[in-house]
Amino acid sequence: MKVLVIGNGGREHALAWKLAQSPLVKTVYVAPGNAGTYREPKVENVPIDPLHFEELVEFVKVQQINFTVVGPEAPLVAGIVDYFTQRNLPCLGPTKDAAQLEGSKVFSKAFMERHNIPTARARVFNSLEAAQQYLAECAYPIVIKADGLAAGKGVVIAKDKTEAEGTVVDMLSHKRFGLAGDQIIIEDFLEGEEVSFIVLCDGEHYVPLATSQDHKARDDGDKGPNTGGMGAYSPAPLVSPHLHDEILATVIEPTLKGLSQEGYPFKGFLYAGLMISPKEEIKVLEYNCRFGDPETQPILMRLASDFAQMCLDALNGTLNTYVAEWDPNYALGVVLAAAGYPDEVKKGDVCPTLNDIAPSKVYKIFHAGTKIEEGRILTNGGRVLCVTALGETLQDAQTKAYRIVKKVAWDGVFYRSDIGYKALGKN
Ligand code: AMP
Ligand code: GLY
Repeated sequence: MKVLVIGNGGREHALAWKLAQSPLVKTVYVAPGNAGTYREPKVENVPIDPLHFEELVEFVKVQQINFTVVGPEAPLVAGIVDYFTQRNLPCLGPTKDAAQLEGSKVFSKAFMERHNIPTARARVFNSLEAAQQYLAECAYPIVIKADGLAAGKGVVIAKDKTEAEGTVVDMLSHKRFGLAGDQIIIEDFLEGEEVSFIVLCDGEHYVPLATSQDHKARDDGDKGPNTGGMGAYSPAPLVSPHLHDEILATVIEPTLKGLSQEGYPFKGFLYAGLMISPKEEIKVLEYNCRFGDPETQPILMRLASDFAQMCLDALNGTLNTYVAEWDPNYALGVVLAAAGYPDEVKKGDVCPTLNDIAPSKVYKIFHAGTKIEEGRILTNGGRVLCVTALGETLQDAQTKAYRIVKKVAWDGVFYRSDIGYKALGKN
């Protein structure tokens, strides 16, 4: 079988690596991929932009690709699945309508309210004056979110009125996020611990994936600006069997049922970003219509059953027959970013020592912003690598991951040194 993965991040490297392990799969193509996918056995990069649907379809037809898996949100929100489906080409992901759950925070907030899915109280604004009036009377900290896609940068937690006013002016008047910030949401700040809960759906059935937790803040101790994610681990010890059942019953099932009722049955990876309060109350912070990055890396490190079969069952509507098996070990991934991330970063630094690290079942170096030039691996983006390791305990996985991190670090690297800190002691 031939499979196409769309995207070029750490998530897509992990997707391609895991698909390539399936005996069903002969070749995995990645459009456009990175230096990691370039070097992966059974995997080939294809220089096509994820938003150039016509070129992608042409490639799929010529190469007789059996199915496509979409990594990032941008092509999903732009309707890649509809485009492929209209041409009878199997493509795993939600339709444009269902992808609104991630594409519009105003849509997802209203959806949650319609279906009684627990979330923070929020108001929507498109006028600066009305937003400012609201800021004069609300309690702080408060959370301000741009409606549309903003590459993980569209959420600001304002500690006081001055910061909040600056943020709404930035979004609504200065158009910091362009059209994505035409509408904003101002919502109550929630206390607690975050969990990433991801399920794979076939439009009717779903399979919960192993639990995970991400670290969205840039700096140690969850300080600093929000990023796409600085590291993740799986499983999340916070999610007890009881909490797991509660999440399915109060979030996942009503979401899937609500989408079906509204005429948008969900196929693909559904990601609920949850806040769990100290009293174990669950609230949805956001939905993503795709697998998480960097959550995919530790989750897929632990998947012991055939991932290609899982994707095929999701495409065929037979996920009820799929049994997901998980390695009982913990997996922990540390993101190595370029200095300056999540703002402008320097590209073109050499990652010098990757060739010296022997392949191993215990760890894997997933690439994100990298490219190959004259045989050298160069940095090519904000998040560059995600070093992921397996261990019998979370502590063990953390120790192993950081041992490799120290070996692959280059001049100009930036990473958190405390990935996993919240859960250590819980496992
Ligand atoms: P989102 O893209 O909506 O998940 O927001 C990005 C990050 O901002 C989340 O992962 C949380 O860390 C934080 N965040 C979002 N909404 C809230 C909230 N209502 N209360 C506290 N933190 C939040
Ligand atoms: N790790 C957060 C995300 O994928 O959005």
